[in-house]
Amino acid sequence: MTLRTLSLPVRVLFSCFLLTTGMGYLFAVLYLFLIDVEPHAKQGVGMVQAVIVKYYGQRGGTKLEAALDGAMGDNLTQTQKRQIINWIRRGAMEADFASVQSIFLDQCASCHSKQSGLPISPLTTYEEVTAYAQMDMGESIKRLIKVSHIHIFGMSFIFILTGGIFVLSEVPVRWRALLVAIPFAAIWIDIGSWWFTKVEPLFAYTVIIGGVLMGLALAAQILLSLHEMWLKKHF
Ligand code: HEC
Repeated sequence: MTLRTLSLPVRVLFSCFLLTTGMGYLFAVLYLFLIDVEPHAKQGVGMVQAVIVKYYGQRGGTKLEAALDGAMGDNLTQTQKRQIINWIRRGAMEADFASVQSIFLDQCASCHSKQSGLPISPLTTYEEVTAYAQMDMGESIKRLIKVSHIHIFGMSFIFILTGGIFVLSEVPVRWRALLVAIPFAAIWIDIGSWWFTKVEPLFAYTVIIGGVLMGLALAAQILLSLHEMWLKKHF
């Protein structure tokens, strides 16, 4: 059984599905562009940077770091400064605050406390310090889990159907095997890289590579299948 020899109703059904899926994919790309790429492009930020901002966040430039780079850091040793910055980079978490609290109490509280009587913000408790250490950490873990599972289920459904149609084509068997596997590999690369980018911005490139690979493989499956069903000579 090949695509060419399928009965007319089956070919119509398959074709309707392939065209509709292709349309759905174009809308997905358009959505991605309008939400994640274009708003950044307007500010002169490229696509890789946009992906980094989305998953990794913007981790530089909290008020606390800026203050430490200026005059407020003068009383600190390099090691103390690094300890505070590392605490911020780890997410400025309360569970972790004990590791740096003594620095604030010893080096900052003489001025930054309610007792000092100065009209500046106190920096003695976690709540007081964290207000100056807020950082954009990118997509939250909860949201990543949600978006990942929806995409993994949804896309594997799409690709078993488009791949299931495409395996009936007359493309050489090794190429067929490769082309049905690529979208699944691309799902792993793309979605896996969302998670890796959260830790290491360099993976923004593999997010994009995975996405492009998926799009190309889907387009190839759809176009080759349609071509064989309607344009190749029939017996
Ligand atoms: C000698 C007194 C003194 C010490 C010690 C001191 N600060 Fe300050 N700090 C000030 C004053 C005064 C200001 C306000 C300066 C201004 O508004 O220009 C300030 C401002 C700041 C701000 C900015 C607050 C804002 O609203 O933007 C931060 C953050 C800060 N200090 C952190 C620290 C940290 C962290 C330490 C300890 C490593 C520290 N400071 C030690 C006097 C001090």
